[in-house]
Amino acid sequence: MTIDLRSDTVTRPTAAMRAAMADAEVGDDVFGEDPTVVRLQEAAAARFGREAALFCPSGIMCNQIWLRVLARPATEVVVEGDAHIVNYEGGAGALFGGVQFRTVPAADGLLTAGQVAAALRPDHFPLTPTSLVCVEQTHNRRGGTYHAVEDLAAIRAVTAAAGVPLYMDGARVFNAAVASGTDPAEYGRLVDGLMFCVSKALGAPVGSLMVGDAAAIAEAVVWRRRFGGAMRQAGVLAAAGLVALEQMVDRLADDHANARLLADAAADVHPDGIDPARVATNIVYIEDVDAAAVVGRLRESGVLAAAMDPRTLRLVTHHDVSTRDCRTAADALRRALPGTT
Ligand SMILES: Cc1ncc(COP(=O)(O)O)c(C=O)c1O
Repeated sequence: MTIDLRSDTVTRPTAAMRAAMADAEVGDDVFGEDPTVVRLQEAAAARFGREAALFCPSGIMCNQIWLRVLARPATEVVVEGDAHIVNYEGGAGALFGGVQFRTVPAADGLLTAGQVAAALRPDHFPLTPTSLVCVEQTHNRRGGTYHAVEDLAAIRAVTAAAGVPLYMDGARVFNAAVASGTDPAEYGRLVDGLMFCVSKALGAPVGSLMVGDAAAIAEAVVWRRRFGGAMRQAGVLAAAGLVALEQMVDRLADDHANARLLADAAADVHPDGIDPARVATNIVYIEDVDAAAVVGRLRESGVLAAAMDPRTLRLVTHHDVSTRDCRTAADALRRALPGTT
């Protein structure tokens, strides 16, 4: 059996999700008549203590709609340099949002209030003004790190003083909430909008939700339509999303423990490439390796990993890999890593 650690997006819907999908009550969601979509949106808004939510096909669509709703064309969005919205969305922010990104590097992916303050630019011609600040929670490319609530509050104080909205790309925000013991509503009250994915560590097959105030979400409905993301009997998908929210959040702690197990194994044989103490959630990066060679050796042992660049390997834990699987993968990792640097 293959142990697939390439991403937490490889999870397959659980039996409970499949049953809920089969039984889902549905209607035409473009008319606002799909009761299961409505239930999921209400549940998502409630989790974050906000007025409204909108079900979308993907996290990228949510990010791009939020750029339209919160930012303005011909302005800057301040964001960490390795953020998903800058690097992995095909230039969509420039194409569809008309924004330019002012990227600020942070070794752990986490912007500080001071960095944000220094990067903001006023609406004073001919400067290009800042119209949005974006944080990523957890930070994918920097190893699943997350902002503490106090640090977000400090960023919020800076953005509020400048009159600039704050957005959270929270594709894996529940990993941050579980790892830090934070009520997601704490995050919700600190940002003007956020999105999270049910299709990643929460295990649902499709979907992400935008969460914010009612006026912003009403605007988002229009942009979702423009982007071709309005769906019809989407309740079959939302039903899995509801199971994800109800049953798949607390168990994320297991994924985090499994990630630590992999990190410890890697550090045993290749201590220069990883600091296990920095593995905060379910994403493990191993640096300074011949990534293609290690991926090849792991594959021979039935373990799939991702080469993020020629010298960097990524492993992600999720619902479909057990602790026993991760122990097997850890042994394979110990065999695959030596001699590759
Ligand atoms: C931080 C972050 N934002 C956005 C996305 C995009 O989500 P999707 O693949 O559903 O479009 C991802 C996907 O991995 C992500 O890691």
